[in-house]
Amino acid sequence: MVDCRAEFPALREGVVYLDSGATSLKPRTVIEAMVKYYEEFPANVHRGGYPWANRATEAYEESREKVARLLGAHPDEVVFTKNATEALNLAASILGEYVKEGDRILVSVMEHHANFLPWMRLARIKGAEFVIFNVTPDGYLDLNDFKKKLTHNTKVVALTMASNVLGTIPPFKRVAKMAREVGAYVVLDGAQYLSHHRVRVRETGAHLIGFSGHKIFGPMGTGILWGRKELLKDGNPLLIGGSMIKDVGFDNYELEETPKRYEAGTPDVGGVIGLGAAIDFILKIGYDNILAHEGELTRYLYESLRSVPGVEVYGPPPEDRTSLVAFNLRGLHPHDLAWYLGEMGIMVRSGGHCAHPLHKFLDIPYHQSVRASVSIFNTKGDVDRLVEGIERAKRAFRL
Ligand SMILES: Cc1ncc(COP(=O)(O)O)c(C=O)c1O
Repeated sequence: MVDCRAEFPALREGVVYLDSGATSLKPRTVIEAMVKYYEEFPANVHRGGYPWANRATEAYEESREKVARLLGAHPDEVVFTKNATEALNLAASILGEYVKEGDRILVSVMEHHANFLPWMRLARIKGAEFVIFNVTPDGYLDLNDFKKKLTHNTKVVALTMASNVLGTIPPFKRVAKMAREVGAYVVLDGAQYLSHHRVRVRETGAHLIGFSGHKIFGPMGTGILWGRKELLKDGNPLLIGGSMIKDVGFDNYELEETPKRYEAGTPDVGGVIGLGAAIDFILKIGYDNILAHEGELTRYLYESLRSVPGVEVYGPPPEDRTSLVAFNLRGLHPHDLAWYLGEMGIMVRSGGHCAHPLHKFLDIPYHQSVRASVSIFNTKGDVDRLVEGIERAKRAFRL
């Protein structure tokens, strides 16, 4: 098992952080990279010609190169956004040019709202059909349902690479291949995937993928949209204004090339520099070690939770899921359980997890759940504390 707790300043004695699915903790090196920027060269990027400005621009662009290398992409295909939600909204803005009345947009029922609502809205605006494909009762993607609904007028298929509730890792490459065969654009949501798995973006078959920087040990306020250059070349930016324009006349304008055309205004320079340090951190530990550590912990988490009487766990077995487990304790509202655990210093998330359609579809009690997610710094001791906390909650609430 990897032991890197000491690299996370927030992990003080007794802290049990089991909410990396919402945002990961930040290693010291990431915080230091940001502090260095603010203390030593805190200038804006892509505008000044003085030494601080040059250094800031170089550091900002170096992070783009790191992201590109991490993903197996070209730097021009890497757009910085403030989170995965913005990246996926930008994907919808770009593909909006190609969707017309009567087309179909196909989206899985296990999407986070960030990869659900931009498509529902686009379908409404364009007069396209918004169609949802299902998961099976045990939480796998229902491929038969997908095939049935993948018609020749399907223009976009949107799918997560890992569900933030069920943990399911769907066969996204297979889905992308089938979608491409009918001429559809494929958009993947990599927000829950990239912190645990290496991604070679081109091999996924997708056209566009959204990621959160803050879930891969990067600072808050960072996200990434990767897209194929052919598509990004003429895409429609979400925002328009400073820094993304080649020329402006009295009644016309010409946008910059990608990726600058998508990064209007002053970006989060310190955040992007911190994201570069986060990538260094991941590569230093290595995806193989991350996966081995988290795989073992996820199995332990899943089995430990399933062994607690009264706990109902959602989604497939550990070998088919990413590093999180959503569950409910019979007779107790998930917010009450999460609050009680929080009082004991155990941090888990509760609620609909921005996946209301999925909770409704599976008819999960309260349409909400508790979610524990593990990362590279967690230990089996953290999982034991969680189980102990649930047992105490059962006694306290007389269940
Ligand atoms: C699967 C999935 N997609 C998208 C998002 C949205 O990410 P962000 O908060 O970076 O916008 C999340 C966040 O929890 C997620 O889990």
